[in-house]
Amino acid sequence: MPLKAVILLLSVAGAAYASPKSDFLLHCGGCHQPNGTGAPPNVPTLVGSLGRIAASAEGRDYLARVPGAAQAPLTDDELAAVLNWILKEFNNDTLPASFKPLKGREVGKSRARVLADPLKMRNELWPGDPDY
Ligand code: HEC
Repeated sequence: MPLKAVILLLSVAGAAYASPKSDFLLHCGGCHQPNGTGAPPNVPTLVGSLGRIAASAEGRDYLARVPGAAQAPLTDDELAAVLNWILKEFNNDTLPASFKPLKGREVGKSRARVLADPLKMRNELWPGDPDY
């Protein structure tokens, strides 16, 4: 097979099987860094601090309402997969055992109400949290 055809096949396969990890690197990693640690204080870390947040209904809602997540060029299912990947990959230690993965439908409802002031909501829900 000519090299061009191989490259074409590989890139088509790559597009069809975009993984939550590659979506994270493409759409979130530029700000939050490939290892999720962010650039505090401007860009918060996504490591360790999100398990507790994902434990409550408001927290699950919040995760998809922050502008970076809500406005990413991803479908609801893709965004849910990225958030679930972040929770498992970077927050497994703080994630409650009862955690149920986010669903596309749930994420779709949340992201439709994008937060104008994420910091305000965070401070109200988790006052004095040192991880932000
Ligand atoms: C342009 C930079 C940028 C991009 C891209 C970005 N974010 Fe963010 N993210 C931020 C900033 C800044 C905040 C702090 C809240 C705010 O000001 O929006 C934040 C906050 C968050 C939070 C809340 C963290 C906490 O501890 O409260 C989550 C969750 C999050 N982002 C997820 C994502 C996901 C998922 C993606 C990719 C789909 C993403 N972000 C893309 C900049 C970005």
